[in-house]
Amino acid sequence: MGDVPSSHTRIIGWGSALPDKVITNADLERTLDTTDEWILSRTGIRERRIGGTTTSLGIAAGRAAMERAGVTGDAIDLVLLCTSTPDAALPASANVIQHELGVRGGAVDLNAACSGFVYGLVATDGFLRAGLRRILLIGSETMSRLVDWDDRGTAILFGDGAAAVVAERSEGPGGLLGFDLGSDGSMSHLLTAEVGGTIRMEGQEVFRQAVRVMVESAQRALHHAGLGIDDIALFVPHQANARILTSACTRLGISEDRTMNNLANVGNTSAASIPLALSMAAEAGRLAPGDRVLVTGFGAGMSWASAVIEWAT
Ligand code: COA
Repeated sequence: MGDVPSSHTRIIGWGSALPDKVITNADLERTLDTTDEWILSRTGIRERRIGGTTTSLGIAAGRAAMERAGVTGDAIDLVLLCTSTPDAALPASANVIQHELGVRGGAVDLNAACSGFVYGLVATDGFLRAGLRRILLIGSETMSRLVDWDDRGTAILFGDGAAAVVAERSEGPGGLLGFDLGSDGSMSHLLTAEVGGTIRMEGQEVFRQAVRVMVESAQRALHHAGLGIDDIALFVPHQANARILTSACTRLGISEDRTMNNLANVGNTSAASIPLALSMAAEAGRLAPGDRVLVTGFGAGMSWASAVIEWAT
């Protein structure tokens, strides 16, 4: 699975949106039996943003990506929203975003938890190959609504946010060079949230499995792309825990200076985490045309997904 010999997906714009309200570790010290030192040393997180709705954050991120791409809604054929925190069971939150942004085409939500954006990237490539011209691919989450704020094992980890890319069908350079998608539902009990409930997690076991699945998945995607880790200009992993990232980087053989890490300021934003990190890397000038970028997501399910893309803008 996953060989993509001639892809036509070109990312032509990106953008992000974060709520204004900042919750620092010091804020959590006041309500939980925890310390800034514990949270920072165990997770790498200093603060997270809280607020808004999945649709409002998705609209703001989508608008920013469309502006950067220089396109308006009538040039977009599909809004693909990756989220595990839709604002309603019905309609899909993507429909609300589609209407607000004046998009002419279709709209659909995709839920693969923290792996969602990478699944969305692969789905985007498929939709473009099927004939669509441009897709607004968004990761947007309001994890604060799923968090039990009395549970120090999970409340410290998650944050809200959104980021988006505009992907265009192109005969030029760029594209999806290889990917890997996976799931093992026998581990579904490790990280759950019932409908109307809050997150329950076996943190240590999630940690252990996360390192394993992200390394194996990243290696399979590289193999399908016909590339090695030394060909990767930037590794953009799902931002869950700085120690998970360090372990994965060591096992993959990639240095942390070629790895995006924005955990300190945003925490774990689930399906928004990879596009947020990608947008911040692009903003910071860390991506150049021709760069090969490895993205790897993992999370509840357990699910995982990796892709190698060639940056083109
Ligand atoms: N502050 C202080 N102490 C805490 C704490 C907190 N916020 N959370 C847990 N502890 C305590 C535990 O109660 C335990 O105490 P005990 O030894 O007296 O029983 C001790 O710290 C160790 O707990 P443990 O669960 O082993 O800690 P850990 O080093 O595994 O760190 C996580 C906990 C949640 C940070 C870590 O397991 C993790 O990040 N896992 C992955 C989670 C994740 O990424 N999920 C999303 C995947 S998409």
